[in-house]
Amino acid sequence: MRTIIEPFRIKSVEPIRMTSVEQRREILRDAHYNLFAVRSQDVLIDLLTDSGTSAMSAEQWAALMRGDESYAGSPSFERFEAAVKELMPFKHVIPTHQGRAAEAILFSIVGGPGKKIPSNTHFDTTRGNIEATGAQAVDLLIEEGKNPSSLHPFKGNMDVGKLTTFLAANADHVPCVMITVTNNAGGGQPVSLENIKAVGEIAHRYGKPFYIDGCRFAENAWFIKTREAGQAGRSIPDIVRDMFACADGMTMSAKKDAFANIGGWLAVNDDELASTAKNRLILTEGFTSYGGLAGRDLDAIAQGLKEVVDEDYLQYRVRANTYIGERLTAAGVPIVQPVGGHAVFIDAGAMLPQIPALRYPGQALAVALYEAGGIRSCEIGSVMFGRQTDGTEKPAAMELVRLAIPRRVYTQSHADYLIEVILEVAQRKESLKGMKIVWEPKALRHFTAQFEPLR
Ligand SMILES: Cc1ncc(COP(=O)(O)O)c(C=O)c1O
Repeated sequence: MRTIIEPFRIKSVEPIRMTSVEQRREILRDAHYNLFAVRSQDVLIDLLTDSGTSAMSAEQWAALMRGDESYAGSPSFERFEAAVKELMPFKHVIPTHQGRAAEAILFSIVGGPGKKIPSNTHFDTTRGNIEATGAQAVDLLIEEGKNPSSLHPFKGNMDVGKLTTFLAANADHVPCVMITVTNNAGGGQPVSLENIKAVGEIAHRYGKPFYIDGCRFAENAWFIKTREAGQAGRSIPDIVRDMFACADGMTMSAKKDAFANIGGWLAVNDDELASTAKNRLILTEGFTSYGGLAGRDLDAIAQGLKEVVDEDYLQYRVRANTYIGERLTAAGVPIVQPVGGHAVFIDAGAMLPQIPALRYPGQALAVALYEAGGIRSCEIGSVMFGRQTDGTEKPAAMELVRLAIPRRVYTQSHADYLIEVILEVAQRKESLKGMKIVWEPKALRHFTAQFEPLR
């Protein structure tokens, strides 16, 4: 059959509260046009993030009941550890309450002033945790990854030439090399197995450990299977094991490709690093067999890891996002190409050329999508990145609106509704004006800034 259906049926539902355009105008006014300030009950389709928003399966809910809440020696930890090692056979698996806690522990040990840590593109929290130690986070993405219209199949790849030059010049200051799969900050673009292996080999040639930020490892493996020469006949678990066989450790947010609403881990092979990390864990997260999680969360993750490598699921997951991207492209709405694993990015800068970057075209579009159809998206542009540490403001590299798709949550008719809303706004795009910021905090302004629409 040509039609790819959602490979699940629905046993439990959450009602969506319908609102009118007039009600949403009032909600927007009350929220000062910041979608982070809108209550989730007032959102029809919530595409703010794919993190922690997955629908759990019946087996995961059953696993919650199996959860053993003993402080030490819990079988929930054993099931969690076994499920992680089945796919990523690292020697030590250290649970944390989410991905950034694993990063904080790792970089508090290997980071520090004067150190430099290269990656394809560090995700915000990874960068933040590296910089918090006084180290520098360095992005060495291939050039194609920075071009929204390039159709390169692996736009998340690291530039191995730049990595080699970088290590040759800075080896004494580099404690480790990282790579993020898929590359969230670059639009959920995948990294090829060939690139992961090459980066691992280069790191090892310079005697540096290689860590993978594996948040979306299963989506990445699906792209390897479907796009990389010689990989089509292989199973997803085999590809995943190959990806991690090149690495010395990983950080993970189970809120993505483990279908959990909370959780994460740090896994490493190095005994000494593991011992220091476990001591930090006990100070900041909890004992080594639960690390800030309940036993039931560990069981939900263990079950989620078995489900996320299912090919029917992954085919549906990537196809559902591609479907939205194809329909938007056919209607002339500019998006970042090709569609990545977990989100569709609208190029608001290209769609609304009449709005200058510092009048925030991405924010104007995100607000218009909410007003028109109750869609909550996220501006990734000059609101998020424009304010500089010296207080000045400059345009971001791109003005994007991210539609992050929660896992197993929305159906095709939700996608059709989303497309209809975007196309309705696109039809009257010339009438959209920008926004101005009337209040903002000192840092991370996109979460709490207050806006007014320009008339
Ligand atoms: C690539 C990547 N790394 C790390 C994180 C941090 O994970 P968490 O939100 O669980 O702290 C995220 C979260 O969005 C991410 O996308």
